[in-house]
Amino acid sequence: MKAMGNDMQNILAAINNEDWSAIKQSAVNIAEHPKPPFTEKIRILSFIGTDTAQFKKLDTITHNTAMELVKLAEQENGNAIIDKFAQLQKSCLNCHQSFRKPFQAHFYGK
Ligand code: HEC
Repeated sequence: MKAMGNDMQNILAAINNEDWSAIKQSAVNIAEHPKPPFTEKIRILSFIGTDTAQFKKLDTITHNTAMELVKLAEQENGNAIIDKFAQLQKSCLNCHQSFRKPFQAHFYGK
């Protein structure tokens, strides 16, 4: 997750520099973000419980939006990239607003 935050910052900087290949690389990283190790995944999913479907749906939306951003970077379509980036940010926010707080309380005692 921390890496995803860094990738988002890299995309923002790359948009300002019109560095399309850097945008593409970071969007690929987000789309293919590493899944947690199996045991951790079990812990996470058992904690989410009945909300698993919703969690997966939000994860898929982030994945698909990042893939669309990859395509736009290949087309060097600056305006569309900026709109898509905003959508990507919203997809992160949507999951965080539902899941981040209870997660951190449960797993890290925050
Ligand atoms: C399907 C749900 C989901 C999506 C989508 C999601 N996140 Fe998260 N994210 C979480 C949860 C749950 C946590 C809290 C648990 C944790 O820190 O691992 C979190 C925590 C984080 C953190 C804090 C990590 C830390 O070590 O303090 C960052 C940064 C982050 N997410 C970035 C992103 C970015 C950027 C995106 C979109 C590109 C994104 N996340 C999309 C669920 C999601």
